[in-house]
Amino acid sequence: MKKGKLYGIGVGPGDSGLMTVKAVRLVKEADLIITPKTEKKEGSVAWNIAAPYIPETAEVLPMVFPMVTDPSVLKAQWKENAALIAEKLDEGKNVVFLTLGDPMLYSTYMYIFHAFEGSGYDIETIPGIPTFLAIASYLNMPVAEWEETAVILPATADPEKIDKVLSVADHAVIMKVYKSWPFIQKMLRKHGMIHSSVMISRAGLPDEIVLRDLDQVPADYKPNYLSTILARRDRES
Ligand SMILES: C[S@@+](CC[C@H](N)C(=O)[O-])C[C@H]1O[C@@H](n2cnc3c(N)ncnc32)[C@H](O)[C@@H]1O
Repeated sequence: MKKGKLYGIGVGPGDSGLMTVKAVRLVKEADLIITPKTEKKEGSVAWNIAAPYIPETAEVLPMVFPMVTDPSVLKAQWKENAALIAEKLDEGKNVVFLTLGDPMLYSTYMYIFHAFEGSGYDIETIPGIPTFLAIASYLNMPVAEWEETAVILPATADPEKIDKVLSVADHAVIMKVYKSWPFIQKMLRKHGMIHSSVMISRAGLPDEIVLRDLDQVPADYKPNYLSTILARRDRES
């Protein structure tokens, strides 16, 4: 039997209208749709975005990707998830794996992508609008212009590296802010970025929060998991 094909699809930042025409077509045609669950309480954000295009008859399989740091727990779960997908592909099913934003940027799809890389299975990745670029448009805040430099960094990266990078970049996109807010606030103050940077949580979703002048945000503030900071230097007065 001919094996099915695996599609990793970026569903964009939150607004269903920002999914690409190709992503919508593949969702409509899929035999099986996999929706990663990263936030256990509320189900899959990626599923909610793609929901208007998922046919009632489609088989939908929620797949848990635990948010833990223990490598043995993570690896065991990824292996189990990849094995289940391989089973469906072997049955000849075309499988769509939905992922938030773009699949090639810090995404849940990366675990599956690496598991299937070089495996002989047919895989295609369909880009989506990365959240930080959608946010830049929502906030009317260009990410970079002319010869400016812009860096993308996860707030979970090595603190020394974050310090170094922020000392040279004109702009920064800081992702995964949720657990590292006090440190990031300190860094933005140190590098003269605290007043002009903006933090946006759950952009494009009904409960979106936009915080400006991050000097005023308490150090013990707990940003939502889906929070990004667009950082830029304060103008010299
Ligand atoms: C696992 S990464 C997924 C990134 C995604 N692949 C992309 O292209 O944007 C999760 C991080 O993306 C950012 N993010 C995703 N959705 C967001 C949203 N709706 N609002 C703000 N930040 C978001 C946050 O920084 C969050 O911690």
